[in-house]
Formats: sequence, structure tokens, C-alpha cells
Amino acid sequence: MTTFVLFGGTGDLARRKIIPALYSAFVNDRLDASFRFIGAAREGLQSAEYRQRVADAIAQFGGKVSGGTPEKLAAFLDVTYYQKVDARIPEDFDGLRAQIPASEDNPTLFYLATAPNIFIPVVEQLHAHGLTSGNARVVVEKPLGRDGQSALAINQALRQYLQENQIYRIDHYLGKEMVQNLLALRFANSFLEPLWNRKWIQDVQISISEQVGVESRGEFYDQTGAMRDMIQNHLLQLVSIVAMEPPVNADPDSIRDEKVKALRALHKFTPEEVSKKTVRGQYRAGAVDGKAVPGYQTEPGVPSASRAETFVAIRAEIDNWRWAGVPFYLRTGKRMATRSAEITINFKPIPYSIFGNGQGPMRSNRLVISLQPEESVKLFMKAKEPGEGIRLSEVALDLDFAEVSTSRRVESYERLLLDAMRGDLTLFVRDDELMAAWNWVDPILQAWQNDSEGLKSYIAGSWGPVAASYLLAQHGAAWGEEYVEG
Ligand code: BG6
Repeated sequence: MTTFVLFGGTGDLARRKIIPALYSAFVNDRLDASFRFIGAAREGLQSAEYRQRVADAIAQFGGKVSGGTPEKLAAFLDVTYYQKVDARIPEDFDGLRAQIPASEDNPTLFYLATAPNIFIPVVEQLHAHGLTSGNARVVVEKPLGRDGQSALAINQALRQYLQENQIYRIDHYLGKEMVQNLLALRFANSFLEPLWNRKWIQDVQISISEQVGVESRGEFYDQTGAMRDMIQNHLLQLVSIVAMEPPVNADPDSIRDEKVKALRALHKFTPEEVSKKTVRGQYRAGAVDGKAVPGYQTEPGVPSASRAETFVAIRAEIDNWRWAGVPFYLRTGKRMATRSAEITINFKPIPYSIFGNGQGPMRSNRLVISLQPEESVKLFMKAKEPGEGIRLSEVALDLDFAEVSTSRRVESYERLLLDAMRGDLTLFVRDDELMAAWNWVDPILQAWQNDSEGLKSYIAGSWGPVAASYLLAQHGAAWGEEYVEG
């Protein structure tokens, strides 16, 4: 019997992502027959009231769940319970304990979808109530800490009560279909490996742009900013998978051993480098998809003189034999022109053109791995246009996974929850990876703190501050959308 306990069970993340993901797993028979779901939060609710909220969340956010029926929903609600738990009140955990079967054979997953300052008190109480032994696993949400020091304190506290293999640090980007596909692309094909290095690659670009603003999370976001919200975790995880060496096998720790080496090899910036190699921005009022949207400083919960960054672009480098000298351009922002998450590998230009100039676009080959909105891999190359004479044009070998496979699409949260229930740590972040990421991010955050003038502004609905284009242009490079063919 698996028991899934969701702290923060009435919160935004629970409603939007976790409950729909659990329901999808339930509907598709991916949970064991005696699965139980316990929502836990500070509010005093009856299970019946909580079930209504769960049903509402599924109605509002479970749109992508295939196969849901009123009968399945009723069956899911039958195994849903509520327990009031305030992390500061030890007695509340007595009630929780009473709901959890005692046997060591019964896996229990505690999902901490709460603010990070609650992690330590919750784990302390779980331990005090005998709930951290045997088959207990704890899932913790990002951002884990505000900097390296606070992350270390959280890690140490977690490790006081739990073994590392009981701790599941979630980064939902790792659950995205194309992120795993990147591992397959790199390590199940022979043709890419000889090219996957500084000899053949000009630069790597990883860009996650969002059209949404800060929605209802203004207060949280203002304390966090894009660097801690996206770069420290999602983007650096993508960097580690693009840059890692081949692991000895596909075991979780073999993969994570290689990822952490790549993260440790990230070149740490001096304060001077921070001002040359990073750009941060904040959106002002503009229009996204033709609809007027307010500026960041007038979003609910955001102070009117906020200096939080909603956009970051960085020219990162990796100091090792495979990647020395290859820029990794990272970019993320809210209220940008489009919603997309893409990894682009720009190959070096041909050494010499036998076709001369004026034969069509001469942009060099590139491999574009698109995580969303579509899931695809495209290899752009030059070919001759049909007809007389030689005129070149760019064509793409285009692999669209929605067309290639009709298998059920599994959302990243569902995949990761199932992995955690099965005890598979591959797609979760290990403590040393987390620390390596913070070690790279910390000097940048510190330098920004001492340079309040460095925050640029950009119009909502654009591609970010002009400085982000210049960051690449000064090295003869350009972001994907900026190329003008001719
Ligand atoms: C979350 C961030 O981790 O990722 C959000 O906290 C962001 O600010 C979200 O919107 C983006 O995820 P996705 O899967 O929609 O690209």
C-alpha cells in the first residue's frame, strides 16, 4: 500500500500540477491498488471538504488528463483524505501518523510542496514521529535555499534524518519528455558524439521564454527572481545534460556523477565578468499576443520599486577539454514574445564555400531540440533547391514526436511522482549537483546586489532587453529568432 502525503495540499502547486498528475496516474492505472492520498495543510478541513477542492482542481487544471470519467473521479476521491498539519504543532503529526500504515513494507511518499523554510520543521517532526525510517521518501520542491549557504543548511538538516537515497529533489524540467530524449539522442546514437565538442560546435543556446507574467505569485517571485526561479535549477540542469560525458551506465548515480562534473566545470565569474557576461531585466507594460499587460512593478504582491529580475541572459563557459571556449548562452524571461523552451546546438561554419557568395543563406548547421510547445528535434542543413543551376536553401530534417508516436503523453509531474513512488532517483537532483549549481550562481547574485544600476528594462511581449542581443552580437553570434536569412 503506497501512501502519498502532500504538504501544501491546498496550495497553488498542488492544485495546478500535483493533484492533476496524481489523478492522471490513477486514471491510467499507474498506482497500486491500495494507494491512498492524504492532503495536509494548516487549514482545518474535513476530508469531505478537501475532496471537493480536489475535484475542483481536477476540473480546472486536469484538462490534459486522458481517460478521466465521473466514476474514476469518484474512485480517486474515495482514496483521498485530509489531515490538518501545522509544522509548528507537534501534536498535529500524531494525527498524521495515525493515518499511515506502520509496516516497513508500505512505502510512504511525503511531498513538501511548501515554502523551503517549512522543510526542516516538517522533516524533524516526521522523524520524531517515527515516519522517516524504512520505506519513507521525501520529495522537496525547488528553489532549495536562497544561496549556497542556506541550501547547505537545508541539505544538512535533511541528511540528519534521512539517507540521501530517501531525498527526491524535484526539478520538473527533468521530467519533460524531451529532456530524457536528449539522453537518448546523445548516448544511443553514434553519429553525434564525434561532433559534440569544441572542434565542431560554435555555441550552445538554451532559451526558456514564457508569455505569462508572475500570475498570483508576485510576493514569492519578488523574493526569488528569474535567477533562482529558473537558471539555478531548470537551465543548469539542461546545461549539465548537454555538456556531460557519457556515463558508465544508466544508473541514477552514474548519470548524476557525470552531470555534477559538468556543473563543477562551469567557469565561475569574477565581479568584472558578471558585468560583461550577464544581462538582467524587468518587464514594463506592453502587449503579449496583442493583449495589453501591466508592467512587473504593478503586478499584485510586487513592491512598486522592486529590483527583482524577470529576465536573465548569460554567456556561460565550461572549463574542460570538451567545451573550453564554447559559449553556452542561457536565457529565460517572463512576458516574452513567445512561449518556448529550446536547446540549439550551432555547429561551426564550413571552412570554405565552393559555391561562392549569393547562393542563398550560409548560416551553418544547427540542431534544435524543442522541449515545448512542440516536442521535436530538427537538424537544419543546406541543400540544393530543385531546378537549374545551384542555389542553396536551408532545409530541416524534422522529427516531431507527436507524429512519430501515439503513446500516451505523460506530463512531467506525473512521470516524476511515479519515479519517486518506484524509488527511481535518476531524474532527481543529488545534493552535490545542487551545491555545484549554487556555487556558480552565488557570485553572480552577489555582484548583482552590489550593482543596482545593472537592471535593464524591457517591454512585455518583446525578446528582452537590447543588451541581451549585444551580449551575443559582440561575439558575432545571435539568438535564434534574430537571424535574418539572405
Ligand atoms: C517553475 C517556475 O519552476 O517553472 C515558474 O517557478 C515557471 O516561474 C515554470 O513559470 C515554467 O515551467 P514550464 O513547465 O511551464 O515551462
